[in-house]
Amino acid sequence: MTRIVSSLLLLISAILAVTAQQGKSFTPTILFSTCGSHVIASSEAEIATLAACSTFSGSLTVLGLSAINAVALPALQALTGTIKIASNPHLTTLSLDSLQNSTGTIALFNNTLLSVINVPNIKTLNALEIVTAPSLRQLSLVNVQAISSFKVEDTGLDNSGTLPWSSFQKAMDIGISNNKFLKVIDIPGLNAISGRLVVAANGLMEGKGEGASLHLANLTTVSNCTLRHLTDLQLPSLTTVSSSLSFDETNLKLIQTPHLKSVGQTLSIVSNNNLNNISFSELTFIGGALLIANNTLLTSVNGFGKLKNIAGVLNMRGDFSNISFPDVSSVQGGMSILSSSKDFDCSTLSKVKASARGKTVCQAQVKSAKPTNSNGGDDDTLLNSANVLKLSTQGTVWAAVALLSGLASYAF
Ligand SMILES: *[C@@H]1O[C@H](CO)[C@@H](O)[C@H](O)[C@H]1NC(C)=O
Ligand SMILES: *[C@@H]1O[C@H](CO)[C@@H](O)[C@H](O)[C@H]1NC(C)=O
Ligand SMILES: *[C@@H]1O[C@H](CO)[C@@H](O)[C@H](O)[C@H]1NC(C)=O
Ligand SMILES: *[C@@H]1O[C@H](CO)[C@@H](O)[C@H](O)[C@H]1NC(C)=O
Ligand SMILES: *[C@@H]1O[C@H](CO)[C@@H](O)[C@H](O)[C@H]1NC(C)=O
Ligand SMILES: *[C@@H]1O[C@H](CO)[C@@H](O)[C@H](O)[C@H]1NC(C)=O
Ligand SMILES: *[C@@H]1O[C@H](CO)[C@@H](O)[C@H](O)[C@H]1NC(C)=O
Repeated sequence: MTRIVSSLLLLISAILAVTAQQGKSFTPTILFSTCGSHVIASSEAEIATLAACSTFSGSLTVLGLSAINAVALPALQALTGTIKIASNPHLTTLSLDSLQNSTGTIALFNNTLLSVINVPNIKTLNALEIVTAPSLRQLSLVNVQAISSFKVEDTGLDNSGTLPWSSFQKAMDIGISNNKFLKVIDIPGLNAISGRLVVAANGLMEGKGEGASLHLANLTTVSNCTLRHLTDLQLPSLTTVSSSLSFDETNLKLIQTPHLKSVGQTLSIVSNNNLNNISFSELTFIGGALLIANNTLLTSVNGFGKLKNIAGVLNMRGDFSNISFPDVSSVQGGMSILSSSKDFDCSTLSKVKASARGKTVCQAQVKSAKPTNSNGGDDDTLLNSANVLKLSTQGTVWAAVALLSGLASYAF
């Protein structure tokens, strides 16, 4: 629709230009309604036709140009349209020196040599998506407090400079994944994420690194939260997760959320090799399943001291010798607890079992319940029952990435 309107505008301005020049000039000049136009640039010169725009409401696409080194829109103060820059093998620099507010989208995909993004005056940002920018080591967004969609994926960002997100306070969706040099993610002022938070596969150099640390000192609420491959985690202020919360394949020894009171959907803790303690001391309500499985060193689970209601299924599998849920009075989705330990005594859970509706299973000395470090597990009905698919590390990463696929895609 906007495309049609803009083409009409183009046509009209062309006709006007021709009419105006009739009689005095021999070459008809086409005057574009430039700052609202849809430009698919084929050269740097063509981008320069937008150089005078202080507001840009159209769309600029710079796609697959091997001649281009830099994209600059020096006068641009407000972006309400879209800038998409993708697959330009020699592009090194994007300069939006005057840009203050963007209610539009800036999407940068697959620019292998892109190393400088200059947005020194940016204050409000709607969507910024940077995917596959291996040469990008730093990104400064020091004055941005609110952002709708922030996605950095497969970049060279490291911790040598100011973190791009350190000023954020509110966000809708944040996705930080596959940044192999990124070891520390610290967003101290971030208070609320109304949509998704996905942090996965950062700090994993050639699949060998340990992962990244994630510190969200002020975060109180998030809707959907997927955390993977972490070495350290601090969520001291988190009180509410309105949708699901998952901790997968981390290197954490302790997973704790000291102020978390409720999780709207599934809480899952799966395949964390070093985990030996879980502490959700204030959690009273889980609106979906509680899934704890394949955590190699986790032998006792007693960090749910105040948990009362599990609206879904209580699903646990591991080498547990001791499990306690002292306050649980309702498990609406049934219960399935399998432990490989011979020390586990199901009768310690008789109260929980009595409060569970539907099918209840509790068994000790179940060989197949023992967590594995290999992919040898064959019995993943439990995992599937909570809609968590068994995936290889690679698969897991892509699953996390897929969560964000609604935010952006390569297709233009
Ligand atoms: C950017 O937004 C701020 C706050 O809404 C406003 O004061 C300022 O004038 C805007 N700047 C431009 C160039 O639109
Ligand atoms: C990435 O960009 C290169 C050119 O630099 C291109 O050959 C390749 O097809 C692009 N990949 C994707 C996934 O778009
Ligand atoms: C975190 O929140 C507290 C209380 O709301 C506030 O005083 C503090 O400045 C915030 N920290 C940061 C880094 O924004
Ligand atoms: C939260 O994430 C899970 C897992 O990806 C997904 O199934 C669910 O639909 C999401 N919920 C919301 C509200 O986005
Ligand atoms: C258990 O977790 C390890 C990694 O911690 C993973 O390699 C293995 O595939 C997982 N096993 C199952 C059955 O999911
Ligand atoms: C588990 O962590 C909690 C919270 O830090 C702590 O209070 C508790 O003592 C720990 N339990 C074990 C067995 O280390
Ligand atoms: C299990 O843990 C509870 C609570 O921490 C403790 O009171 C109990 O003694 C433990 N039981 C066993 C068999 O270790």
